[in-house]
Amino acid sequence: MADEPTLVVVTLKEQSIAGKIDQTLTHRDSSRSVSAMAALLAHEIKNPLSGVRGAAQLLEQSVPPEETQLTRLIIEETDRVVALIDRMEDFTSDTVFDAREPVNIHEVLERVIALGRAGFAKRVRFVERYDPSLPAVYGNKDRLIQAFLNLVKNAAEVVPEGEGEIIVSTAYQHGVRLQAPSGAVPMQLPLVVTIQDNGPGIPDDLRRHIFDPFVTTKHGGTGLGLPLVAKLIGDHGGVIDLDSRPRRTVFRVMLPMAEEKE
Ligand SMILES: Nc1ncnc2c1ncn2[C@@H]1O[C@H](COP(=O)(O)OP(=O)(O)OP(=O)(O)O)[C@@H](O)[C@H]1O
Ligand SMILES: [Mg+2]
Repeated sequence: MADEPTLVVVTLKEQSIAGKIDQTLTHRDSSRSVSAMAALLAHEIKNPLSGVRGAAQLLEQSVPPEETQLTRLIIEETDRVVALIDRMEDFTSDTVFDAREPVNIHEVLERVIALGRAGFAKRVRFVERYDPSLPAVYGNKDRLIQAFLNLVKNAAEVVPEGEGEIIVSTAYQHGVRLQAPSGAVPMQLPLVVTIQDNGPGIPDDLRRHIFDPFVTTKHGGTGLGLPLVAKLIGDHGGVIDLDSRPRRTVFRVMLPMAEEKE
């Protein structure tokens, strides 16, 4: 226990935290393979695509009006592919490490909810359960917004129409230290943020893979949302896990606090 150094609490849980850390580390490997792929794609596809796009734009000026829809199609589709590659390139950036400072996680969550209300989650009810005394996270605000935005967006995409509810909560978890299997210094991850939705839940066979890149059940989904979340939380030294059954799916993110910087 952090407050009482002479006392130790031993809890036995069905699913060991070591397993979760192990999973998180595996997620990190999968994001690494995306990052190598993104670098390759950027080089081999993005550059030629900008040439294709430019050529279509030039053609647009000289083709008869009834055919401009074809040049439009070329431009729009190249833009779509470039946007996908840009998304993959998020994996190559290490900005979390460059710019970490104490961040008020409630500002992060409020921003995410405001973005949701203004756009992808207009008809969803948000319930905010915050621990107002929560200390700051040691992190990168923009990257934390990006991570939680992906979680809230996923939740908004599965909740039932008209009665969708997303519960966002924060809590302080006393004295929990996670010892990574590699035997590194135990991590103190006292800040807990959960995103809970009342959607259909995630089937067991899918659950094992959702942090892998390109796993998606959505039409037009990239399957890069959760791998990116796992990378960003991992870059913060944090851990993410989930618990899912119908009408109650909870993504739980544990983060280090500002004073704990190594
Ligand atoms: N809260 C949730 N409830 C149910 N299923 C979920 C939830 N979050 C994620 N999933 C499942 O995990 C899959 C992967 O999610 P991820 O965010 O990585 O990609 P995506 O949402 O499909 O695509 P994109 O993020 O590019 O829109 C989803 O397609 C969905 O099947
Ligand atoms: Mg997503």
